[in-house]
Amino acid sequence: MITVRMETLQQIDWTFREFKAKEGIHGLHAYPAMMAPPVARKLIELFSQVGGVVFDPFCGSGTVIAEAIRLNRNAIGFDINPLALLIAEVKSNPLPPKSLWRAYEQIEKALRRNINIEPPRFANIDYWFKPQVQKQLAQLKAAIDEVQDETVRKFCLVVFSRVVREASNTRQGEFKLFRLPAEKLERHNPDAFTLFRQRFSECVGLMSEWWREVGERATKVCLALHDARKPFPIEPESVDLLLTSPPYGDARTTVAYGQFSRLTLQWLGLWSEDLDRIGLGGQMRTMKNIPLSLRDALKNIHDADPKRAREVEAFYADLQDCLFNIVEILKVGGYAIFVVANRKVKGVKLPTDKIVAEILHEFRHVATLMRQIPNKRMPLKNSPSNIAGQTDITMLEEHIVILQKVC
Ligand SMILES: C[S@@+](CC[C@H](N)C(=O)[O-])C[C@H]1O[C@@H](n2cnc3c(N)ncnc32)[C@H](O)[C@@H]1O
Repeated sequence: MITVRMETLQQIDWTFREFKAKEGIHGLHAYPAMMAPPVARKLIELFSQVGGVVFDPFCGSGTVIAEAIRLNRNAIGFDINPLALLIAEVKSNPLPPKSLWRAYEQIEKALRRNINIEPPRFANIDYWFKPQVQKQLAQLKAAIDEVQDETVRKFCLVVFSRVVREASNTRQGEFKLFRLPAEKLERHNPDAFTLFRQRFSECVGLMSEWWREVGERATKVCLALHDARKPFPIEPESVDLLLTSPPYGDARTTVAYGQFSRLTLQWLGLWSEDLDRIGLGGQMRTMKNIPLSLRDALKNIHDADPKRAREVEAFYADLQDCLFNIVEILKVGGYAIFVVANRKVKGVKLPTDKIVAEILHEFRHVATLMRQIPNKRMPLKNSPSNIAGQTDITMLEEHIVILQKVC
């Protein structure tokens, strides 16, 4: 059984001020609210062993998964977002640059044929993409579809996804979809082929480094689309370390993973439901037993706005189901670590760190560590009162809640 001394945990500066948000392979594709790679790395190093199983039920773009691979652990990752899984899968399959350049040449050759391909007819395509961009993206997608090797093809699709976003009429650097203002839109005439060439070359650079570092390792990785509210399709007591950052709240008022991913998913034909509605807290429901640490906050929010209180309750009801599912699959002596942020609703702080520890009260609470968020890509300002113009700085710090299953 692994034991980590409190002093060891306290001596580490968990903020990791020097790290770059897009370091190494994690720079392959942006994703909202990514876990800081050095945090994941350090926690995996301390709380699991080489050859052990690390599990992230909200794996997003696969930060935990890639760091587990780097450290020779086996990894399991689930998410409900197909774009997240695509990125995580590409990160978990290091590829030699030669195979990628070969695919690139094949794609270039197909583009030179200049065959007219019908773009997909999803809702609002004309709103988000100019006709010339639609034409180029359709040709690119058809050329990528011809790449035989599935792993290489998926790498190309990750590059394609970046181009979809950059060539679209959306404002860059936002999670949500906002259209460029009229005057900027007029001047916005991206060349999707040039963008693809540039991004492809950048991504091959990252993958080459990754291949050199971990290419030959034989860790097992399993990734799947799975809703964490449903029991995990994993052997009981088989996971050594659960390490995850769950969503901070419902997608409507926090991070809209669905909106972030929608255009790519529509181009890939993978958009079936409104992801933000099926994410945690997307549907109204109540909790049978409200944790003590949530009660006061919920009451205060209710006094200000009963509907918001019901939305917050729905989110924690969903989160509770996910947490209960963890109990069975974790080994006795194994650790469950949550990186969470305590957001505010209606000016009331929600102590998610305490709520998680309380829901999993059968586990031993080892420690809750605090870290500043120096450069995470997530909204730092919101309107806790939902009054336009009134903002509050939120989530500048996160908590690392470390729990251990003892029996
Ligand atoms: C904070 S993000 C995780 C980011 C990830 N740690 C990374 O570094 O990219 C939370 C993730 O939870 C996913 N999610 C939301 N509801 C879910 C559910 N019910 N089951 C599984 N995943 C869910 C979202 O799609 C999102 O990718």
